[in-house]
Amino acid sequence: MDQSKFENLAKEFMEDLKKVSSLDDLESLRVKYLGKKGILAGLFGEFAQISPEIKKDFGRKLNQLKNNIESKLSELHSEFFAGTEIGVSQFEKTLPGKKPQIGHLHPIITQAIREIVEIFKPLGFTQVRHPEVDWDYFAFESLNMPKTHPARDEWETFFVKAPENKEYGKLVVSPHTSSGQVREMLKNQLPIRMLNISRCGRRQIDVNHIPFFFQFEGLAIDKNLSIANLRGVLDYFAQKFFGPGRKTRLRPFHFRFTEPSFEVDVSCGLCQGAGCRFCKEGWVEIGGAGMVHPNVLKAGKVDPKIYNGFAFGWGVERTYMMKAGLKIDDMRYLGENNLKFLSQF
Ligand code: PHE
Repeated sequence: MDQSKFENLAKEFMEDLKKVSSLDDLESLRVKYLGKKGILAGLFGEFAQISPEIKKDFGRKLNQLKNNIESKLSELHSEFFAGTEIGVSQFEKTLPGKKPQIGHLHPIITQAIREIVEIFKPLGFTQVRHPEVDWDYFAFESLNMPKTHPARDEWETFFVKAPENKEYGKLVVSPHTSSGQVREMLKNQLPIRMLNISRCGRRQIDVNHIPFFFQFEGLAIDKNLSIANLRGVLDYFAQKFFGPGRKTRLRPFHFRFTEPSFEVDVSCGLCQGAGCRFCKEGWVEIGGAGMVHPNVLKAGKVDPKIYNGFAFGWGVERTYMMKAGLKIDDMRYLGENNLKFLSQF
């Protein structure tokens, strides 16, 4: 084969290349030169039969031509996708389309809260909402914590800059959903089975606390209620929400607004009770509970000689984190609204 054959072929290819105006053209060109039955395949066929003296030179030129064709085709191919080729449509119908981003329900504010509401429904607890910013009276005083009582320190409270109310005192960011207890009683509709779910605020932040979080508060007021009823409700909830394998325990505690009072723990779902970075000892404190104090009933204009009741208040974030299989070991993620995090749930 004479020398000029490769040069002519290279020229011919460059002419063909100029005529390409679509990806279909580009593909036909590729098939013409590089396809199984293409020009280069033919030349490689010849290569097997030529005399040894010229084989080396022939092979080198053939490979050069092949590399050259391949790189020109791939350059043009990327130009099509970059849309830089003049006169070439930028629309490429074979590329996958761009999916619009679809949002989903927030894991705490919607998903967890809806699930909690559904679990309590069959027991007759109905969801209510009381103010997220409330008077000192409802947050503390009516709950048997008179002004300056040291127990208030436990609710590291945000105070709102606002004029004081003569009757109800200062305005605070509600530090717990218990602020809704007396408000509910004052509606004067007995018996009560309230589920108050609301945002609360406290000056605390670490792996286990965020300054703005949700709580759900159950309050039942009726005749002849007992700790057994309270336990039954808490266990029922824990089994429904976390699954049959999870345990709860009550530890004696002190709240001014319940007597007796308990802290409620659930066995940790991250480590199955073995102890981990999040729970330390296998149990996670999830909230408080107890039998409603007579002074609180009185503040709600409910006669403690006829009625009694129980109450419990749990954190929604903490409860959610304890769900099996979630493995969220820092509550702060749940308060940050980082979409990369939230979209996983
Ligand atoms: N309000 C308490 C808290 O935030 C929890 C609680 C609710 C305790 C109801 C007893 C009864 O810690």
